[in-house]
Amino acid sequence: MYRNRTCGELRIADVNKEVTLSGWVHKIRKMGGMTFIDLRDRYGVTQLSFNQEVNHDLCEQANKLAREYVIQVTGKVAERSSKNQNIPTGDVEIAATAITVLNAAQTPPFTIETETDGGDDLRMKYRYLDLRRNIVRKNLELRHKIAFETRKYLDERNFLEVETPVLIGSTPEGARDFIVPSRMNQGEFYALPQSPQLFKQLLMVSGFDRYFQIVKCFRDEDLRADRQPEFTQIDCEMSFVGQEDILNMFEGLTKHLFKTQKGIDLSDFPRMSYADAMKYYGSDKPDIRFDMKFVELKDLTQGRDFAVFDSSEYVGAICAQGCAVYTRKQLDELTDFVKRPQIGAKGLIYVRYNEDGTLKSSVDKFFSEDDLKLWAERCNAKPGDLLLVLSGETEKAQKQLSELRLEMGARLGLRDKNNYKCLWVVDFPLLEKDEELNRFFAKHHPFTSPKPEDISLLDSAPEVVRANAYDLVINGVEVGGGSIRIHDSALQKKIFSVLGFTEERAQEQFGFLMNAFKYGAPPHGGIAFGLDRLVSLFAGLDSIRDCIAFPKNNSGRDMMIDAPSKIEQEQLDELGIALNLKEIK
Ligand code: AMO
Repeated sequence: MYRNRTCGELRIADVNKEVTLSGWVHKIRKMGGMTFIDLRDRYGVTQLSFNQEVNHDLCEQANKLAREYVIQVTGKVAERSSKNQNIPTGDVEIAATAITVLNAAQTPPFTIETETDGGDDLRMKYRYLDLRRNIVRKNLELRHKIAFETRKYLDERNFLEVETPVLIGSTPEGARDFIVPSRMNQGEFYALPQSPQLFKQLLMVSGFDRYFQIVKCFRDEDLRADRQPEFTQIDCEMSFVGQEDILNMFEGLTKHLFKTQKGIDLSDFPRMSYADAMKYYGSDKPDIRFDMKFVELKDLTQGRDFAVFDSSEYVGAICAQGCAVYTRKQLDELTDFVKRPQIGAKGLIYVRYNEDGTLKSSVDKFFSEDDLKLWAERCNAKPGDLLLVLSGETEKAQKQLSELRLEMGARLGLRDKNNYKCLWVVDFPLLEKDEELNRFFAKHHPFTSPKPEDISLLDSAPEVVRANAYDLVINGVEVGGGSIRIHDSALQKKIFSVLGFTEERAQEQFGFLMNAFKYGAPPHGGIAFGLDRLVSLFAGLDSIRDCIAFPKNNSGRDMMIDAPSKIEQEQLDELGIALNLKEIK
């Protein structure tokens, strides 16, 4: 027997009990004739005490231990003279009577503490040590609980978890695929799934009715704080449902998770059309923890010889409450912010609505105070507020204004991580035009159903056709997305043709789905949540990496196992891949 109790469970009621614990040496402190060791396991930390006078040899043995040694200790639970209120076991300690070293340990390359001295790269290289840190382990515990509660919620509602294959064929839509060569079919390749989209639709054709899967997905795209090349979806599909059924079911799941994990009762989620999200927030994932909606000023700004506005398709403002007092330096900072290459604005116009009612702008040369007053009125500004104005080509300027809005929200402390605001964004456009290639792409994926009332516009004005597609947005993060699917093969064929697929290519790529639809496909729809994003929101993390046990870095590398890596020529030969390794630096 290695232990009969854990390091997190002993309390004052256990005093005088004989116990055996096992764990890692967290800290050693020597004070006069006493040695104290904090022993750590997954469940907590318990103090061990060794008294030189009571047992000299044992105390000497304890003094030889070092950080991260794995030990077993036996002793009696005693009340501590100086209690530690910060930990649940802080009232007691173990007066040790025996120690066994189960394994020695080298000094770890960084301290196993919440505030560690290890940098990012070092922690990722020794991720197994990083995972010993409370703060990291807690995120994984939360992840487990969210996955567990999700399974419970869905199981109680008749969803079946079905595994779908990981080695599938490459599909042309969406992000880039990760490709796996086939030894048995040389010259042919599998792809890793970007999502189980087609399989879950096929399961609906099979009559599974309600499917879910907590599943790894793979996308070879540029990485960011909220993107990993392999990530996990809570992937769901339902038959005989419309959009309303899906939104209700998964609003229910989200509420259930907030209730069970955070004790928060969320009220019903508001809904916003994609068109409004873009018009008022310049983003399809607006952070509605704060207002600061865009106000269009184009018509009020024309004909005053200010060429920048006169030549702009869009002039829009946000009103930052109470910011008229911003100094020149602060305004310069904001100008620099919008001019950063990632944002790309040419400049920033501001109007101070001073407390005394006067208006002062950076374009006073062109606009009278009466002009500015009209802007302020439209923005619902009050004395003390600051208007920030950007202009340009509509989509670009709105995107820039959106970044500025988020920046102002952060500066004004309006983006509290513990304040959760959920939102359904609905009525996404079905198609997105790539101006360079002069062709349409599916905004969500090619199986998304157009709104029935918009189908007649597919030929005449495809760009305005709206889809039965929706995203769940929490605090400005796209947590999930889904749609009602096309279940009619004629309509699916039509969409493929709008997307520029020849009949042969559509057949080659998606023939199995179109064929399946000929055998009785029920009306169906679904959604997928990004589990990593959901967990990181719940945990208040800045990057989803922190809730993934073994994540990749921003170049897609696993620093610990050093992958991706080169492979032997023999392996390449076996796969029939001609690759001159010498040419690859
Ligand atoms: P979508 O592509 O919107 O939909 O993905 C669903 C959700 O998955 C998460 N996500 C990611 N998380 C981390 N890293 C990534 N690289 C990444 N990419 C996506 C997001 C996103 O909202 N098959 C459809 C769903 C459906 O229609 O049912 C799909 O995959 O949180």
